[in-house]
Amino acid sequence: MKTTEIRIVVHEFENIGELPEADQVLLREARRVTSMAYAPYSGFHVGAAVLLGNGTVVTGNNQENSAYPSGLCAERVAMFYANANYPDSDIKSIAVSAAKNGILVGESVKPCGACRQALAEAEVRFNRPIRIILDGKDAILVLQGVESLLPLSFSKKDL
Ligand code: THU
Repeated sequence: MKTTEIRIVVHEFENIGELPEADQVLLREARRVTSMAYAPYSGFHVGAAVLLGNGTVVTGNNQENSAYPSGLCAERVAMFYANANYPDSDIKSIAVSAAKNGILVGESVKPCGACRQALAEAEVRFNRPIRIILDGKDAILVLQGVESLLPLSFSKKDL
């Protein structure tokens, strides 16, 4: 038997002003679109902003449905829009923010498993690690690559 340890790296920032300028701009966009989410069932409003390699920023927010599984998370709305409209452009970074009753969540927002898998697909597709910025009042987390969110992930290499 052999045991290996997988190391994940998470950078923690106290507030938006501490982030590098490019991350600040992207996170402000994520915060801006959070209020436009359609989330009448959960009341949990999420906004995502994606920076493409070509410099374009696209945004998305969660879109819920009375048939719950038919809804979609903010991250995938933004990423799928990016891939649908700029299929040749890689994804450089994504910022995610979330609010309850219009107030930024305390603990940093964490993408669901399906969104992590979609991020992993984009990394493999464009062969570029995606910088991930996760907003919260207590801390803003920054991860360099989906490997730190989804270790041992399944990808086309496994097919
Ligand atoms: N949600 C997102 O949009 N992104 C996340 O990172 C976490 C969860 C949405 C899905 C659903 O509309 C609501 O938040 C509650 O789960």
